[in-house]
Amino acid sequence: MASIHRTPLIAGNWKMHLTVKEAGELAAAIKKGLDPDLKHEVLLAPTFTNLHAVKEAIAGSKMFLSSQDVCWEEKGAFTGAVSPAQLLDAGCTHAIIGHSERRKIFLETDEVINKKMKAAIKAGLTPVLCIGETLEERESQKTYRVLETQLNGAFAGIPVLDVAKVIIAYEPVWAIGTGKTATPQQAQDAHIFVRRQAERIYGKDFALSVRVLYGGSVKADNVDELMAQPDIDGALVGGESLKADKFLRVIHYQPALVR
Ligand code: 13P
Repeated sequence: MASIHRTPLIAGNWKMHLTVKEAGELAAAIKKGLDPDLKHEVLLAPTFTNLHAVKEAIAGSKMFLSSQDVCWEEKGAFTGAVSPAQLLDAGCTHAIIGHSERRKIFLETDEVINKKMKAAIKAGLTPVLCIGETLEERESQKTYRVLETQLNGAFAGIPVLDVAKVIIAYEPVWAIGTGKTATPQQAQDAHIFVRRQAERIYGKDFALSVRVLYGGSVKADNVDELMAQPDIDGALVGGESLKADKFLRVIHYQPALVR
């Protein structure tokens, strides 16, 4: 299912790394190395405290700014949380939602993720919804069931008119930070499944247009073959996005080099 054009997106998730100064410098180095004629999109997701520095550093470039999380409430007594409106005010256009580290370490459920999706969409932030199975789930043949449940949960009660801009990131948990990338075929198969689910929930137009990123040990030396897959529309990159030269190679991936 890859018959229409979907603008590729390469996103860097900087997780809980870097000082304000380091984040600003890294963003500036990436901006400097960007091909001015780049046709696809680039997104940087620093920690909350580094959003401002990165916003300043990428001003005037075609890069977008994302948070790594968002609260579902608009304002009030929610110590430690950041609202969608505050993220927009800080220059974010996107918010990562439901990352496996949020699910596992911070015990986020599909219900919470659904509330975050609704709040982000209502405020005009583009969600980058993360889904993915653990190693145990993959080994017990539950991958597709898990992905289906996570997608049903995240999109529950959200009308089709509201999902046009939503981005999905398939991130198998066993591939995150482990150096164990899904093979291009494993990723492609999961992406086809995600697109089929997207069609079941919202119909063919959405399924054909929704961008599905792959995440999990994407590196400068494996991005070309991943991006050569017809249903992989981009990458959500952790560790490799913290090194300007490596991330620039990821951004400027070259599927044509794949034999
Ligand atoms: P790594 O690229 O470090 O495996 O992290 C992937 C990830 O979790 C991106 O959100």
